[in-house]
Amino acid sequence: MNPAHKALRDGTAEAHDRVDAAFAAFDLGDRESYAAFLRAHAEVLLPLEAALPGARVTPDWEDRKRGALLREDLAFLRDAPLRHPGETPDDGEKADGAWDEAAIAGALYVIEGSRLGGRFLARQLPHGFPRAYLDADQPSEKWRNLLERFEPILYQPAQLQSALASAHSVFAAFERSAKRWAKG
Ligand code: HEM
Repeated sequence: MNPAHKALRDGTAEAHDRVDAAFAAFDLGDRESYAAFLRAHAEVLLPLEAALPGARVTPDWEDRKRGALLREDLAFLRDAPLRHPGETPDDGEKADGAWDEAAIAGALYVIEGSRLGGRFLARQLPHGFPRAYLDADQPSEKWRNLLERFEPILYQPAQLQSALASAHSVFAAFERSAKRWAKG
């Protein structure tokens, strides 16, 4: 594990645990609950993917985006009545110019890392449930390549702090969204 990766992983372990616990409230074996789970992801991921200038850190950012897969799964589940959480969506967007490379790296770490748990969750889905988003193709070198790109960006403490702050804010947005949709 390179030092930038270790620092991001250690620095956000608790945030990951909270997000994991918040999403445990959904029953992935239940169509309606799975739709709410995807909606909770969509409300954070779609605006964040649109706002994040990820190509400044990884040139294949466009190919990494999973918003289209998420929309596809939600469209497939269109007959599931979606519950509305009754609060305004939390889009995690930053003002223009607030994305320095370190902040981009922190957000990419969270978004791309979420694929690792997603694949594990996809195995819990009943046969016939759409899974394009959770089971998205993810060769392990894509994760490694991304982490290697972080190293030259995050070797200074100030940059690392900026990445951690950004990662924490993305994790927190997912946690809030999960809680809103779980309440339904
Ligand atoms: C929904 C419940 C979740 C479960 C059960 C879960 C589970 C996991 C598991 C098992 C791993 C390790 C996989 C491996 O090392 O091969 C992992 C890694 C990770 N997950 Fe999650 N996850 C969940 C949600 C999320 C969400 C919503 C996010 C972010 C939005 C996220 C971000 C990450 C990150 C960044 C890593 C990489 C950690 C590292 O090795 O640096 N996870 N998750």
